Amino acid sequence: MAERLLTRFTFFERILHWVVGVTFVLLLATGLAFAYPALFWLTALLGGGPSARVLHPWVGVLFTAGMAAMIVVWFRDMFLSDSDRRWLRAVRAYATRDSANVPPAGKYNAGQKMFFWVQGVLAVVFVASGVALWFPAAFGASFLQWMRLAHYLATLGGGLFLIVHVYLGTVAYPGTARAMIDGTVTERWARHHHPRWHEEQTRP
Ligand code: HEM
Repeated sequence: MAERLLTRFTFFERILHWVVGVTFVLLLATGLAFAYPALFWLTALLGGGPSARVLHPWVGVLFTAGMAAMIVVWFRDMFLSDSDRRWLRAVRAYATRDSANVPPAGKYNAGQKMFFWVQGVLAVVFVASGVALWFPAAFGASFLQWMRLAHYLATLGGGLFLIVHVYLGTVAYPGTARAMIDGTVTERWARHHHPRWHEEQTRP
């Protein structure tokens, strides 16, 4: 008999997530292409060097809109509770897959919540520094240098966190990616990874 499925994300949440995901990857790839000549070929993703230069900030506008909407939709679920703090103290058990010693997570574990807030803060850095770099005539040279550094550091940080996020959502924990594709997860997945959320969803 097919296993019962639980709905994890609505269609709207998935659209928002993928607007953010696709635009973020395009921005990351073209941004790295501008910084490193060896990666210049990545500008092909936005039609080559000159068009990538023009389109990068506009893709940034779309990323900003998606991210702002995602923050509005999800922020209530992302505050750390006492049980999240217990989860964080036991993060070693999570990383070593010692499931017996991982405090039960709700809809999101504390690591996912931290990822949400870190990407939210980095988005503010991207937007603030990106706007300055988009309209350089309005700012002084030394301020622009600081903004270039902030944009670059946020790129490296955001890129590294994204690699971890994609790894955890695909290779490390099979059965997770479908939550962002068709919006569902199996009961077994929910019971194992998010026991408190599973209980809430299946309580009679
Ligand atoms: C581009 C490839 C990406 C993949 C394959 C991916 C995959 C996923 C998956 C499978 C989930 C559901 C996790 C669950 O149900 O527990 C998720 C959730 C989430 N994603 Fe992504 N994602 C990507 C990009 C991004 C980007 C660029 C951001 C933000 C800048 C982002 C932010 C989030 C957040 C905040 C959540 C909810 C909390 C969490 O699960 O960490 N994702 N993602």
